Amino acid sequence: MHKVFSIQGPYPVIRAGLRARGWIEQRTQRSKHHAPRRHSDEGRATSNDAGDSDDNDGELDEISRLVRNEMVYFYWTNRRDAINNNSLQKEQITNHFAKAGSFTTKVGLCVNLRNLHWFDSADPDTFFPRCYRLGAQDEKQAFIEDYRRTACTSLLKYIVERERDQRKRRKRRSRPVVLSKMMDSALKVCQKYLESIEHRDIDTSLETPQTLTKEEWAEFIDSYNLVVHLCVSSLSGGAEIENSDHFVTCCKAMLQRLAEVSPQLDIDGIHNIWIIKPGAMSRGRGIKCAKRLDQILRLVDSDPTLITESKWVVQKYLECPLLVHGTKFDLRQWFLVTDWNPLTVWFYKKCYLRFSTQPYSLDTLDSSVHLCNNSIQRHLRPSKQRHRGIPADNMWSDDQFKSFLSSQGREAQWHTVVVPGMKKAVIHALQTTQDLMESRKNTFELYGADFMLGRNLLPWLIEINASPTMAHSTPVTARLCTAVQEDTLRVVLDRRADRTANTGDFQLIYRQVRKSFPSSSGYSIH
Ligand SMILES: Nc1ncnc2c1ncn2[C@@H]1O[C@H](COP(=O)(O)OP(=O)(O)O)[C@@H](O)[C@H]1O
Ligand SMILES: [Mg+2]
Repeated sequence: MHKVFSIQGPYPVIRAGLRARGWIEQRTQRSKHHAPRRHSDEGRATSNDAGDSDDNDGELDEISRLVRNEMVYFYWTNRRDAINNNSLQKEQITNHFAKAGSFTTKVGLCVNLRNLHWFDSADPDTFFPRCYRLGAQDEKQAFIEDYRRTACTSLLKYIVERERDQRKRRKRRSRPVVLSKMMDSALKVCQKYLESIEHRDIDTSLETPQTLTKEEWAEFIDSYNLVVHLCVSSLSGGAEIENSDHFVTCCKAMLQRLAEVSPQLDIDGIHNIWIIKPGAMSRGRGIKCAKRLDQILRLVDSDPTLITESKWVVQKYLECPLLVHGTKFDLRQWFLVTDWNPLTVWFYKKCYLRFSTQPYSLDTLDSSVHLCNNSIQRHLRPSKQRHRGIPADNMWSDDQFKSFLSSQGREAQWHTVVVPGMKKAVIHALQTTQDLMESRKNTFELYGADFMLGRNLLPWLIEINASPTMAHSTPVTARLCTAVQEDTLRVVLDRRADRTANTGDFQLIYRQVRKSFPSSSGYSIH
């Protein structure tokens, strides 16, 4: 076998790594000029390319010409459709599996995770914020029911929190009063919900009981908006519930019962905020947060094509995430799949955090506060109110985060809570789509998962990206993106030749017992 490779896209680290291993590039016009193609994630292809100018271009051209008719044995491209896997010979290696959309699109992840119970005894509600496709009628209805129920639980929380906060209570005495009837409704809805969960084992076809009529719901949601949304925001205009003190004890008791069956109660908050995402986009494009039902439905109804194609998802917004110095962040975590049958997963020991430029607040739903994508935040000036401990380039490595946790006496939880939770979420997401994947050998794929952490440090999976950005946008990504690419080559090339080869920071976390159905022939990469 001749060591000939081909690269498409901005991957100087891969190119250098292959050359160092004695591989020769078969250069296409595109790879020579590094024509920046659209990255499927937030990478803007060019910055990574900048450091890849070759002094010895002429010499490389010459060598490349010598291998121009040779078979390429290693393809690395930034687009899945750049290579048709069916046209490859079995020994040719490529960095994309066919059909990964089953978990690398928001719609795919949302739909497939619901099947987790067929594969493992785990509940997706414990690591994936509940999510609905608004284009599918039944899911839209399920979302509306969830929205209404969340308004009820939010109201109970509001009553309990308000009682704790005596100062706010005094300030609000003069507000208009709405009837305590809404408290009865909220408690009744929660009670019915608990009963429906208790009965689910016995009668799986049981539908969510209609506790209130459509008109009663409309009235309830209006009152909820008046009491919670308008009162909590610093703007005036909210209302009080008559005799609300009277309900505190039952609210507390009901919340306690709900907490036992609703793993997301803690991250829900009291504002009933949801995040609406166009299903197949990336880099924060088209994403909006909203808290009013009519607004959410209107937003989506305004684009009929997306509706018919089922491309919108609405997901519960994590209102109470872990903050660092009062600032929201999310976490980019890489993993590598080197086989789908048996499913073989490598988890990267390093990751990085992306901060928002603005201090966290629910007084605004602006993307500058709520979307941590670097492609959004890098264009914004960090707020003067933001804590000075957050760097101007809005990024931290996992090591910096661990130091922060350590300053809070929580360092051990990185290894006991955060990392195991992320590994589990990744494995579960892959399990639910394994049967949809073409399990070609000599194929691997590097993915980038986005996570957020709850205040208890439990990770919540937000999405999984194929072709995660390798742009050197900050010193942190320059270092870590280089490392993850070098280590990928260690796993997919060095370890093929020598099972004991160093795999850098990649750790094998899952190797399934082989499934019995036949798969395409060839060699396994891991
Ligand atoms: N359910 C959620 N709760 C809170 N924040 C979220 C949620 N979903 C997404 N976000 C924020 O929005 C950002 C973009 O969302 P994501 O699903 O990753 O889409 P994109 O493909 O555009 O990056 C995330 O990185 C995170 O900061
Ligand atoms: Mg993302």
